[in-house]
Amino acid sequence: MKPFYRFLILLTFFSIVESSCNSKHQILLISKAFKFVSGFNSSTLFQTRISNSHITKIVLPSKNLTGTISWGYLKNISNLQILDLSGNSLQGHVPSWFWSSFSSLLEINLSRNKFGGSITIELNNKTSTIQNLNLSHNRFTNVAQLSSFQNLKILDLSHNNLRALPLGFQNLTKLQHLDLSSCNLKDNIKPISSLHNLHYLDLSNNTLTGNFPSDFPPLHNLKFLNISQNNFTYHNTKQNIIHRKQTKPTSKTLILIVCSVSSTVFVIAIISIWVIFIINKKMKQRSKMKKWAISLPVMMNKTNTKVEKTGPFEFETESGTTWVADVKEPTSAAVVMFEKPLMNFTFKDLIIATSHFGKESQLAEGRCGPVYWAVLPGEIHVAIKVLEHVRDVDYDDSVAMFVDLSKLKHPNLLPLSGYCIAGKEKLVLYEFMANGDLGRWLHELPTGDTNIEDWTGDTWEFQNSVVESSSEKMGWLTRHRIAVGIARGLAYLHHAGSKPVVHGHLVTSNILLTDNFEPRISDFGLRIHSSLNGGTEDDVFCFGVVLMELLTGRIGTMTTIIAVRKAAREGQHVRVLDERLLLGGDSAVSEMVESLVVAVLCMAESPSKRPTMQQVLGLLKDIHTH
Ligand SMILES: *[C@@H]1O[C@H](CO)[C@@H](O)[C@H](O)[C@H]1NC(C)=O
Ligand SMILES: *[C@@H]1O[C@H](CO)[C@@H](O)[C@H](O)[C@H]1NC(C)=O
Ligand SMILES: *[C@@H]1O[C@H](CO)[C@@H](O)[C@H](O)[C@H]1NC(C)=O
Ligand SMILES: *[C@@H]1O[C@H](CO)[C@@H](O)[C@H](O)[C@H]1NC(C)=O
Ligand SMILES: *[C@@H]1O[C@H](CO)[C@@H](O)[C@H](O)[C@H]1NC(C)=O
Ligand SMILES: *[C@@H]1O[C@H](CO)[C@@H](O)[C@H](O)[C@H]1NC(C)=O
Ligand SMILES: *[C@@H]1O[C@H](CO)[C@@H](O)[C@H](O)[C@H]1NC(C)=O
Ligand SMILES: *[C@@H]1O[C@H](CO)[C@@H](O)[C@H](O)[C@H]1NC(C)=O
Ligand SMILES: *[C@@H]1O[C@H](CO)[C@@H](O)[C@H](O)[C@H]1NC(C)=O
Ligand SMILES: *[C@@H]1O[C@H](CO)[C@@H](O)[C@H](O)[C@H]1NC(C)=O
Repeated sequence: MKPFYRFLILLTFFSIVESSCNSKHQILLISKAFKFVSGFNSSTLFQTRISNSHITKIVLPSKNLTGTISWGYLKNISNLQILDLSGNSLQGHVPSWFWSSFSSLLEINLSRNKFGGSITIELNNKTSTIQNLNLSHNRFTNVAQLSSFQNLKILDLSHNNLRALPLGFQNLTKLQHLDLSSCNLKDNIKPISSLHNLHYLDLSNNTLTGNFPSDFPPLHNLKFLNISQNNFTYHNTKQNIIHRKQTKPTSKTLILIVCSVSSTVFVIAIISIWVIFIINKKMKQRSKMKKWAISLPVMMNKTNTKVEKTGPFEFETESGTTWVADVKEPTSAAVVMFEKPLMNFTFKDLIIATSHFGKESQLAEGRCGPVYWAVLPGEIHVAIKVLEHVRDVDYDDSVAMFVDLSKLKHPNLLPLSGYCIAGKEKLVLYEFMANGDLGRWLHELPTGDTNIEDWTGDTWEFQNSVVESSSEKMGWLTRHRIAVGIARGLAYLHHAGSKPVVHGHLVTSNILLTDNFEPRISDFGLRIHSSLNGGTEDDVFCFGVVLMELLTGRIGTMTTIIAVRKAAREGQHVRVLDERLLLGGDSAVSEMVESLVVAVLCMAESPSKRPTMQQVLGLLKDIHTH
């Protein structure tokens, strides 16, 4: 045999040995990964793998698997392209590194299992290669960020208890198929409107709000849309559809919209709509125009809110108190909008937009009076606050106060948008913040919920060790950024003007969050007798409590304050930190402890020992630079 052939044979032999070694090693790893899964049979894996040297597929649908996967061992299956474990009873949390650590992963189907916890992605610059992700019918409680899933074409998250829309939809430019049905979602649908390539959209069986169709992606690309069983509003729909139809003529699609309005409420009506797009290839005329078959009613019935001609007008709040707007003619009380001076609204518009200040429009029973939500003509979403405690302040003084307030402008303050004085009642208008307040995020929503009930005892330790830095919506970096933002806003109130503006009631429910989780302080400057509300030192104390809530995840009661002070005295800061923050590993623990030291400093019993907000801001910024 010629040496050359001998060499070639030898080479082939080596590569065969190498590839079989490779896959053997990989099968061993997979067996380890499935060690705590009953029903797993590694010989089935041999049948499913592809014939080259690396395992590229793990396809085990409906194999009666139960238990928990030890995800860490899959890290080295670096050529994995397809993972299908659908239709089993697998449990546990999927670690955050998983989604972005394979360079070849294309399809993941974990649907119809019992996976839980939140879906998080590591905060790094890696983009996930996944194109097809099916997590439907599980127990996931949260999806923090989708922006790294830039290659997604198909995303099915349906039948999970997500409760809030994931962030980062604007980055999913390739997405064609999105199913978020039955996810218990309550948010506004706007973030989805950026998905221009969607063909399939199922949002049914949630309590989503927003406007149909203006908050939706371009309807001319959609072939299937199911938005039944939601709380969408239906403003000017007819005009919108006609407008869209004229500007975006496309092909052979017949669209059928069936709507039924099941409420007399003007703004928050429950509308169930089925929009079924049927491609009608046989349409003879190849018309360039879409055909819309609309079964009415489409327009909201505005006349449902009847406004009596003359006042006084009396309104009852959720808690049973009443307030009276003593005006004869509701159009005589003007709404002054600071940024939109040309908008000519009156008290009558407010009555209509809140269905006569009905209980279903009431957002909260604030400390100063009820707060309502309204959409004013021109799609202006506002919160309207009735200031019961300034009833006795006269007209001119009130106007002066509101004008002064409108001059306080800072990115971390919620600015006063306008006001309306109706008799003795003073109403103030703010921009509506759909993300709600910090208290809700910290104490009500499953921000870092890890669904511990799903983690069986024997795998807990291992699971815990592979849960790496998580980018929870309310992970440490977000919470730190929120703390710095609040400190900025408060420092501005205290130090920017010629005399300090005391907030007087800084609590987490007064801190609203923008879409990007930037904090905006609300409810400031509305106290006439500011001497009653103490000085800036009291604000610093309140800030300390808010910071403590951010770090401990507990409500800032006196009990919590005392417990935290005690832990600090004993040098046991870590003990009181929010467990949800500690899941991300301990790299940031020292930052959290340093911040807790600042919180304790702010909560010093003696007001003179508390730092100024300027100093607090400096300290917090030094702890972590964003
Ligand atoms: C695993 O699967 C192979 C082939 O399908 C079968 O022969 C074997 O008995 C199975 N092993 C167990 C433990 O079920
Ligand atoms: C699945 O497991 C259950 C018991 O754990 C058994 O009764 C059932 O027959 C299994 N189904 C299949 C398809 O193997
Ligand atoms: C995974 O691969 C890395 C290097 O690529 C290696 O250091 C490590 O030992 C491997 N782990 C396992 C469990 O094989
Ligand atoms: C799971 O998803 C993959 C890819 O998304 C798909 O090919 C497969 O058919 C799905 N399995 C089931 C049982 O639906
Ligand atoms: C997700 O998987 C389920 C089966 O478990 C299937 O019914 C559903 O159609 C899949 N979704 C997509 C978008 O393929
Ligand atoms: C992300 O990319 C930026 C610049 O592109 C770089 O400065 C930064 O260190 C990267 N971060 C990580 C976690 O890789
Ligand atoms: C997502 O898109 C925004 C702009 O739309 C961009 O600033 C951001 O960097 C993107 N995020 C990722 C992870 O690509
Ligand atoms: C609607 O969602 C709830 C839970 O959010 C679920 O229990 C119910 O089965 C869903 N209904 C349908 C028709 O899918
Ligand atoms: C739309 O969604 C509802 C609720 O999830 C479901 O009952 C209904 O069958 C769906 N309609 C279509 C056409 O898919
Ligand atoms: C949606 O409508 C239902 C039925 O009226 C109501 O109970 C619920 O509070 C509304 N949800 C939201 C988020 O508006």
